[in-house]
Amino acid sequence: MTATKAIILAGGSGTRLYPLTAVISKQLQPVYDKPMIYYPLATVMLAGIKDILIISTPHDLPHFESVLGNGNQWGINIEYKAQAAPKGIAEAFIYGKEFIGNNQVCLILGDNLFYGKLDFLRKALQSNTGATIFGYQVHDPERYGVVELHPDGTVISIEEKPKHPKSRYAIPGLYVFNNDVISIAENLEPGPRGELEITDVQKQYLQQGKLRVELMGRGIAWLDTGTPESLLEASQFIHAVEKRQNLKIACLEEIALQMNYITAEDYNQCIQRLPKSSYREYCERVAQEFIPQYD
Ligand code: TTP
Repeated sequence: MTATKAIILAGGSGTRLYPLTAVISKQLQPVYDKPMIYYPLATVMLAGIKDILIISTPHDLPHFESVLGNGNQWGINIEYKAQAAPKGIAEAFIYGKEFIGNNQVCLILGDNLFYGKLDFLRKALQSNTGATIFGYQVHDPERYGVVELHPDGTVISIEEKPKHPKSRYAIPGLYVFNNDVISIAENLEPGPRGELEITDVQKQYLQQGKLRVELMGRGIAWLDTGTPESLLEASQFIHAVEKRQNLKIACLEEIALQMNYITAEDYNQCIQRLPKSSYREYCERVAQEFIPQYD
């Protein structure tokens, strides 16, 4: 059994968020009280993945590095790679080739937020043999890759941003691929947008009979943050849940402690280095009180 590595793809041009993105990269924008990249990073950490590559633009990559460092403070390994130009999501596997090695890889887009029980992802990481993608019901599937399913759960078709979607199931920006994905991406031709399309990768697995779709239940919140309105809604969602529970979502120090990536002693040292803030106060509370586990 090979290990799983994760790639967080956090480049792109973020044109829909202009002028916010004239100042700072989309995936470093605040989602309520944390930079956006904290949320996909929390997702892969909670899924048990400790080896993570962040891909972004040559201009933005140093900012990610100064925010997150090498991950040692959270007991994980974070590496960085620049994507010369935003030529498609599937380029992640070409830029990530050496990092992936001969392992399987979980790709998450840096502007996708998941909240809820992550068992669907842990199960997919354990049982994937080819490619596993997810299906999530949305009211506007035409904005996404859309998967059409047979009643028995097998995939009939996959279409990128179809004008007339054949189902309501959008494909979230979270995927699991076996090691074949590297050679598939390397041999891909750019699509009509001039990009290496992630849907074309999925179609190749489909043709080989190696594509599995897991439906994400309604207990999972999937939010994306590509437009000013969806960015605001994501902040409002995180704020509402955090305020109600008096718990933080995607507090990376807390997750590192709960996942046993760091010891209690490491944790205390780590939070000593945080500036005085409500974030630090929360981390101190975690050290003192019983806080229910993430699950
Ligand atoms: P998109 O939202 O499709 O594109 P974008 O982020 O450039 O935004 P806009 O459409 O407003 O211009 O990208 C989805 C995610 O994938 C996002 O996190 C950016 C990332 N991405 C890359 O890192 N490199 C790429 O080549 C592409 C196409 C996307």
